[in-house]
Amino acid sequence: MADSEELHLEKHVDYIKSLDKKSDFDAVAMEHLRMSGAYWGLTALDIMGRLGDMNVDEIVAWILKCQDECGGFGGNYQHDPHILYTLSAVQILCLFDRLDAVDGDKIAAYITGLQNEDGSFAGDEWGEVDTRFSYCAICCLSLLKRLDKIDLEKACDFVARCKNFDGGFGCIPGGESHAGQIFCCVGALAIGGALHHVDKDLLGWWLAERQVKSGGLNGRPEKLPDVCYSWWVLASLVIMDRVHWIDKKKLAQFILDCQDPEGGGISDRPDDAVDVFHTYFGVAGLSLLGYPGLKAIDPAYALPVDVVDRVFYGQKKQP
Ligand code: FPP
Ligand code: ZN
Repeated sequence: MADSEELHLEKHVDYIKSLDKKSDFDAVAMEHLRMSGAYWGLTALDIMGRLGDMNVDEIVAWILKCQDECGGFGGNYQHDPHILYTLSAVQILCLFDRLDAVDGDKIAAYITGLQNEDGSFAGDEWGEVDTRFSYCAICCLSLLKRLDKIDLEKACDFVARCKNFDGGFGCIPGGESHAGQIFCCVGALAIGGALHHVDKDLLGWWLAERQVKSGGLNGRPEKLPDVCYSWWVLASLVIMDRVHWIDKKKLAQFILDCQDPEGGGISDRPDDAVDVFHTYFGVAGLSLLGYPGLKAIDPAYALPVDVVDRVFYGQKKQP
């Protein structure tokens, strides 16, 4: 069990940096989503104030190699493009202030081509529709300042059609409410300027109900708590201004209990194996909770606030 008093920041920084050099099974298994893995690890490093340790040119060169001629990005070199990895690639470029390295119109054209007649988005050329992809499209185009390239009203209307009787959202109309999808839908509507579709009190109640005895949050009723839901649930509550409806102190303690104090990294629940995904969501969750020593993270863009400010207002990065 971890020492539950503090965040082992240096250990987590070392753990994330070590992933780059790993060649074990985990690394191979994660190969197809390396672009998202890079986004999780690099964003966590930035929140912990240590992005400056990374080799920017090397990472940007690798990102550019993962771009397909259609404009979208794959999860790794020579992998098929997908909207999820396209968002991750653009988010990493924002972290490094290197959006100038890509052709924004080309990426926007790829995303525009994925919008369907009903406003929904496919994830790639195979056509699977999911509100996760609506979020990716809206977030990515907003960061590229090209939201005018899609039918935004229709996009938000589709997301609104995925709203359920409990105030939550699913992956398609009629799909069960799930905290991960709720983050995507609330985030997409927030960025798209259409939060009026959200019933904040009803959904806030459903999300606050996700907190279990240990202080952790689950993603659906009757499920086990999991550190990644510290992000999906908490970010949604912050966007809706309902974060005071949960016990923040207990949640912070739950996340800290999921640390590996020796090897670094954060797991889904206490005593499980750590991974970069839960390390990112643990650190990001603590940032949303105002944990000292961490940069503030924007709950809709899932990027540090100073990065989002720089993208939209051209402000210099804070030291
Ligand atoms: C739960 O996944 C999470 C989701 C369904 C949301 C995923 C959202 C994205 C990929 C959009 C990009 C996100 C960010 C932060 C930029 P799960 O399969 O682990 O769910 P389970 O716990 O039910 O298995
Ligand atoms: Zn999880």
